[in-house]
Amino acid sequence: MIIRRIKCLKYLGTRYNSSHYVTTPIFYVNAAPHIGHLYSAVIADAHCRYQRLRYPELDVRLCTGTDEHGTKIQQAASLHGVPVAKYCDDISQRYREVFSSASIQQDDFIRTTEDRHKRAVANFWRTLYTRGHIYSAAYSGWYCVSDETFLTDSQLRLDEATGTRYSLESGHPVEWTEETNYMFRLSQFQDDVRHWVKTEARIRPAKFEKILLDTLSEPLPDVSVSRPSNRVHWAIPVPDDDSQTVYVWLDALVNYLSSVGYPDEKFSVHWPPAQQVIGKDILKFHGIYWPAFLLAAGLEPPGQLYVHSHWTVDGQKMSKSKHNVVDPLKAAQQYTMEGLRYFLLREGVAHSDGNYSHVKAQRILNSELADTLGNLLSRASAKSLNPGQIYPSTSAEHLADLLRSLDAAKRLQDSLLQLSERCASHYECNHFHLVADTTMAALHAANNFFESSKPWTLKAGAPDGNQARLETIIAMTMNALRLSGIVLQPIIPQLANRLLDKLSVPTAQRGWNYLAESFATSPNSSNSNPGFGESRQLDGQTSALLFQRILEETAAKEVKEQKPQPAKRSKSKKKERRETMS
Ligand code: MSP
Repeated sequence: MIIRRIKCLKYLGTRYNSSHYVTTPIFYVNAAPHIGHLYSAVIADAHCRYQRLRYPELDVRLCTGTDEHGTKIQQAASLHGVPVAKYCDDISQRYREVFSSASIQQDDFIRTTEDRHKRAVANFWRTLYTRGHIYSAAYSGWYCVSDETFLTDSQLRLDEATGTRYSLESGHPVEWTEETNYMFRLSQFQDDVRHWVKTEARIRPAKFEKILLDTLSEPLPDVSVSRPSNRVHWAIPVPDDDSQTVYVWLDALVNYLSSVGYPDEKFSVHWPPAQQVIGKDILKFHGIYWPAFLLAAGLEPPGQLYVHSHWTVDGQKMSKSKHNVVDPLKAAQQYTMEGLRYFLLREGVAHSDGNYSHVKAQRILNSELADTLGNLLSRASAKSLNPGQIYPSTSAEHLADLLRSLDAAKRLQDSLLQLSERCASHYECNHFHLVADTTMAALHAANNFFESSKPWTLKAGAPDGNQARLETIIAMTMNALRLSGIVLQPIIPQLANRLLDKLSVPTAQRGWNYLAESFATSPNSSNSNPGFGESRQLDGQTSALLFQRILEETAAKEVKEQKPQPAKRSKSKKKERRETMS
C-alpha cells in the first residue's frame, strides 16, 4: 500500500526534521470575519506558541490565509457591486487586520489568487493527471454553491411545498447540474485513507475519527475536480484545458503546499504539516479528499487533523439573517482582544459546540482575569504593602516556617509543583480550557495563601523580622504570578507579557524550563528565590492594573432582559463599581 511506503520515509525523515508546520483553514472572502473564524486561528496560534515555548529548537511555522475563488465569491462581489478582485482584496485585508489585532503570529498569509499558489495548483494537477488519477467524464448531481460541493440524495432534504432541495448539513439550497468534468479516482484510495485515519491519533478529538470511519465504511464515489469555465470562471484554469476550471476545494487544499514553496524542492523541509486545525464542517474535505489527493500525488498526508466544533450565539447558529454574527473587533471593544482570546480558549472545547454570550464572557473575564489574576498582582504590588516596589527574594527561614505552619502555603507549593507537568500535558492535546483551569486553581491557591498569611499585619520597614516575613509572602505570591504568566503566554500573549514585564522577568527567563525554578521546587535552596536571583525592582513603566473589570452596557442590558429586577440590578452595579475602584 502507498501509505506504508510513505510511513517508512517519514520515519527516516523525522530524525532530521525539526519542522513543526501548522495550518488554519483558509477563510472564504464572501463575508467578513467572525468569532468562529477567529477561533480556528486562535487555536492554531496558541498551539504554535506553546510549541515554541516548550521546544525552542523546533522550527515552528504557522500558515493562514484566504480562499478567494468560486461562485459564491463571484456572487458576493456582484451583490456588493464591487469588482471581484477588489472585493477579495478588501475582505482578505480585514482578515489580516483581525488576526493582527488578535496577535495571531502567522509566518505566512496566503491568498489563493496569488501567482505562487496558481503555479502550485497547476503543478499538483499535472502530477495527478500524469499519474493517471484524473479522467474526463459526464457528471450530473445536486450541487450546493454555498458549500461548493456535490451532494448525494442522503445528504439532502426536500421541501415538498416548493420542490426545492437543501443541504441537510448547511441548510443551503442545491441545484441540479449536468456537465462534463474531470473526475478524481477517489475510490482507489479508500483503503489507504482509512488506514491513515486509523493510525497514530490522526484525527483529534477521537469523535471525529469515528465520523470519518463511518463515512469510509461505505464505498466512496469518485469526485468531480473541475467545473466548466463558463459556469465558474473566477477560478484557476485546468492546465491544458481552458474550457474547465479547477474545483475550488482542490484549489483551496493545495494552499497548504503553496505556502511552503511547492513545487520547488524547498517545500519538503516543512512537509508534511504536523497539525492542521479545521472546523467540523470541513472534516470530509480534510479527512478524506485531502489525504487521497496527497497520496495520489505521492506526498505524505498530514500528521494530525485537529477538529473543533462551532460557536453558537445565545444558543443559535450564527447567521447574517439572524443578525447575530459576532464581529471580533466589536467584541474586542468590550473585552479587549486578549479577553476575547481568553474567553474563546477557556470556554470552547473542541468536541462540542460552545455558546457565546456577553453575560458569560463578562462573568468569566471579570472573575478570572480581573479578580483572580489581576487583583492578586495589584495587591502584591500595592504601595502600602510594597513601598519599595520590588519583587523580593524569600528568606529561607520564613519560607520554611510558612510552609510548616500555614496550610495555605503548603497548598500553594503543591499546586505550583504540579503546574508545569499538568499544563504541558493539557497543551500537548490542545486542551486550553484545562490549562486555564489548572492555572486558575494555582492562582486561587495563591490568593488563598495571601489572604491567610495576612501580610497587612506585618508592618513594612519594621526591623524585627517582620520585613523579611512580609517580603517572603510577597515573593511567594509573585512566584505564583510569574509561573502563571509563563504558562499563560500561548493563550493570552500580550497580557502574560505585561504581567512578566511588571515583575521584571527577563525575556530569557520566560521559557517553559523556568517553571521548574521557584520556591516550590527548591524551598531549602540557599538562594531562596531560585532562577530569579536577588530581589529586583518592579517595572515602574508597566501598570499593575492588568485587566479592567467589564461593566459595559451590553452585558448589563442582557441581564436586564433576562431578569427584570431594577432595584437589585442597580445595587449590583454599584457593588461592581466599588470593586473596580478598590
Ligand atoms: N474556505 C474553506 C476552508 C478551506 S481550507 C483549505 C472554509 N472557509 S470558512 O471561512 O467558511 O471557514 C473557515 C473556518 O472557520 C472553518 O474551520 C470553520 O469551521 C470555521 N468556522 C466557521 N463558522 C464557525 C463557527 N460558528 N464556530 C467555529 N468555527 C467556525 O470553510
